[in-house]
Amino acid sequence: MNQLHSPARLDLERQELRFIRSDLLAVKAIIANRRLALAKEILGNKKLTPFDFGISADEGRMLLVGEGNFSFSLSLVIQNPKVARHVYATAVEKLSDAPDETLQTCRELAKLGATIAFGIDGTTLEQKFPIGFFKTIVFQFPNAGSRASAGGTTANHRLVSNFLCSAGRVLEVGGQIIITIVDNNYYHGIFDLKRAAESAGFKVESAFPFFRSHFAAYRHTNTKPTASALQSYRSCTTYRFVRARI
Ligand SMILES: C[S@@+](CC[C@H](N)C(=O)[O-])C[C@H]1O[C@@H](n2cnc3c(N)ncnc32)[C@H](O)[C@@H]1O
Repeated sequence: MNQLHSPARLDLERQELRFIRSDLLAVKAIIANRRLALAKEILGNKKLTPFDFGISADEGRMLLVGEGNFSFSLSLVIQNPKVARHVYATAVEKLSDAPDETLQTCRELAKLGATIAFGIDGTTLEQKFPIGFFKTIVFQFPNAGSRASAGGTTANHRLVSNFLCSAGRVLEVGGQIIITIVDNNYYHGIFDLKRAAESAGFKVESAFPFFRSHFAAYRHTNTKPTASALQSYRSCTTYRFVRARI
C-alpha cells in the first residue's frame, strides 16, 4: 500500500484537521467575545433618553456631516426653528449630482435659516472650516460604502477615525462629536468606535438610544441604493465623544 494513503497517515491527517478546526473555532469565539465586550463597555454608560440634538444646536454652531438627502437636518430645524442659524448641514456629494428632492429639502432648510454646503468631506473638515469653529459635530449613520479591509482595519473604521481626527480640529474647546450607528455586534465590530476615538484623542463619554420616528421629516439615505442597514435593524445608538484628558 502507498505509504501516503496508509490508514495511520490518514488518521493523523484527520487528527490535524480536527485540531485546525478547533483552533479556528477558538479564534472565532475570541473575536465574538471581544466584540461583545467592546459593545458592553461602550454601552455601559447608556442613557435611557435620546440625545437632544435641539438643545445642543441651541448651545452653539452645529455641523452635520454626510447628510445625504438633508432630511435629518430639516427635521431637526423644523422641530427647533430657533436653532436654524446654528445649523451647518453638509454632504460629501457634489451639488450638481444632487437629486431634485434633495435640492428641495435644501431650499427649505435655507429658508428656515440653516447653512447648506455640498462637497464637504468629513475627513478633511479643516480645509473648509476655521479651527475650533463648531460646538457640536454630528455624523448620522456614517458609511464608507465599502466592506474592504486593509491593514487589519475596515473602511468604516478608517472613515470614523479620520472623521474624528478632522472634526477634532474644527471643534471648539469643550465641544462634542456625535455619531449614530446601528446597534449590533457586527456594526460595533466594523466601526470599533472606542479605538477610533482613542486614536483621535477622544473618548466615548456616553451613549443614547436613537429613534428615527422622533424625526418626522427624516428619510434615512443609503450610501448604496441596495444596502441599508436600517431596513433590517431597528435598534440604533447615538454616541457622544469628548476630548480625552491627556
Ligand atoms: C448610510 S448614509 C447616511 C446618510 C445620512 N446621514 C442619513 O442618516 O440618512 C452614509 C452617508 O455617509 C456619507 N459619507 C461617506 N463618506 C463620507 C465622507 N468622507 N465625508 C462625508 N460624508 C461621507 C455618504 O455620502 C452617505 O450619505
